[in-house]
Amino acid sequence: MCGIVAYTGKNAASRIILEGLKRLEYRGYDSAGLSIWNNNSLKTIKKTGRVDTLDREVKRTQVDGHLGIGHTRWATHGAVTENNAHPHVSSDGKFAIVHNGVIENYEQIKHFLEEKGYTFHSDTDTEALVNLIAYHYQKEPENNSSNGNRFFNSVRKSLNHVQGTYGIAVICSDHPEDLIGARHGSPLILGLGDNEHILASDVGALAMHAQNVVYLNDSEVVHITRNSFNIATITDESVEAIVQRVDWDIEESELGDYKHFMEKEIFEQPKALENAMRGRFSDDESTAKFGGLNITPQELRQVDRILFCGCGTAWHACLVAEYLIERFARIPVEVEYASEFRYRNAPLDKNTLVFVISQSGETIDTLAALRESKRKGFQTLAINNVVGSTIAREADGGIYQHAGPEIGVASTKAFTSQVMLCAMMALYLGRLRDMSFNDGVKFVKALKEAPKQVETVLKQSSHLQAIAKKYAKYEDFLFLGRQSMFPIALEGALKLKEISYIHAEGYPAAEMKHGPIALISPDCPSLFLAPQEEVFQKTLSNIQEVKARKGPIIAVTSEGSDFPRDLADDLIEIPSAHPAIQPILASIPVQLLSYYIAVERGCDVDKPRNLAKSVTVE
Ligand code: AGP
Repeated sequence: MCGIVAYTGKNAASRIILEGLKRLEYRGYDSAGLSIWNNNSLKTIKKTGRVDTLDREVKRTQVDGHLGIGHTRWATHGAVTENNAHPHVSSDGKFAIVHNGVIENYEQIKHFLEEKGYTFHSDTDTEALVNLIAYHYQKEPENNSSNGNRFFNSVRKSLNHVQGTYGIAVICSDHPEDLIGARHGSPLILGLGDNEHILASDVGALAMHAQNVVYLNDSEVVHITRNSFNIATITDESVEAIVQRVDWDIEESELGDYKHFMEKEIFEQPKALENAMRGRFSDDESTAKFGGLNITPQELRQVDRILFCGCGTAWHACLVAEYLIERFARIPVEVEYASEFRYRNAPLDKNTLVFVISQSGETIDTLAALRESKRKGFQTLAINNVVGSTIAREADGGIYQHAGPEIGVASTKAFTSQVMLCAMMALYLGRLRDMSFNDGVKFVKALKEAPKQVETVLKQSSHLQAIAKKYAKYEDFLFLGRQSMFPIALEGALKLKEISYIHAEGYPAAEMKHGPIALISPDCPSLFLAPQEEVFQKTLSNIQEVKARKGPIIAVTSEGSDFPRDLADDLIEIPSAHPAIQPILASIPVQLLSYYIAVERGCDVDKPRNLAKSVTVE
């Protein structure tokens, strides 16, 4: 959460920072601000609301220079006010800082500094850090000033006293050529341009200016001028920078003719699924193959249990993995919320493989679950979309989704691409064990058909739009499904509540009668996921129970199924498919329905209230 950009170089800093902040807005959009070294002084502008509001203010005041820092905020400490917006300036006016993360011991730092006469003007944890830097700067020998070392050391030394997480960029009025960045737990990437350098929370915010990047690691500090950079740890050990090429297509992150990124990303799913599969099948062996697992088939044969961890939508993908891997590979799977697992100290069998799923690869709880598993000596794998993300770099091996940038806060194409990779993993593990060659052939064929089948569901968008118009007025919704449709029910409920603020719950359809059935009334529609599969008849009985209580019913079933046409008020058909593909196909109508309901209600689909796409705080 929160996005930071910092720039030093030959170009106008404010333009580059604002452009970067617009691309980082998915990380938070409560307020935005920048500080620029302008006409021999630090100028800071902050505005509540979106980056566009800041942009207008920057244009109006004509603030510009060649060095600056910027921030888009997702509030943690302190309300959404201009005072609490970043950058924060030290009480002596010398330093400005932007920060993504949480300084957990800020109250102690603040108390220490207040006793020394420092003053505070916001409710944020960040202000404690910028004043701590000012304090250490005072203590540093002045003869270190000429080359910026005094500034660098004051930041570095301050960070040794900080508990918590940070991605920061700092500037100082005594050093108008220098920019300092550091990270611990929150991402920070250095872009190397031509006579310019740029720091940002993700590659998308700097890719148009820098093709070569350095991913900073935890506890590293970087000292940047427009022509040079130097990295050390906060304890002053020197670090050799690893320069990597950026893998980011800028056009892919443009909205094009779509109204919202969520809409664009829903319609990009056939392509995202193709990309997930590209080059990953061995037809001769009728199985899937993955280049980056770093684990041999022999080692995989020794695995007795797999633990999947993730958060939100990625956790739902983990639940689908549980159904598919247990069914097709017969390996016991457990699924944990990453945020629970990291503190639960769960006893794990020694032959457990830990798999984390994360679109961004920066979700702090998922990263912590990964680190905890590694610390305990477990082999870890990740399914992840963002190349070079922290999770991708820290897992022992993994699979990139190649779904392209996902910008809408509500995850859509990343989810189905994760499910596709879980299905491929089920195939791969199944073929290492008891799945026959012929069943493998059928499985591969089914997976390859998925993108076309998704296209046919997408063609029903106007039907879904009409259904959405009818149901947009309701304030409560149930999503119900059995077996592998249960995670899709959870995902449908999450999509609806996060973008249209309608109260929605997902349940296994049979669980409904153990409590949620009390909610059924003409005011509470139920969406049933009922493709024709093993538990089809059982799901039909659950639908009857709702109908008997006059609950409006939307049903998703497979083409040619025995679904009684008069049982549902509204019916959506998806192609009949292999059970490994059903969760992908069933996801499309629930995504479209949520999207059109949110549009109908006039909600800000891509930037829903209170949310941020990448949750980098606990
Ligand atoms: C999904 O629509 C959400 N916005 C959210 O639940 C998200 O899936 C979760 O925060 C995990 O993110 P990650 O995949 O980047 O780790």
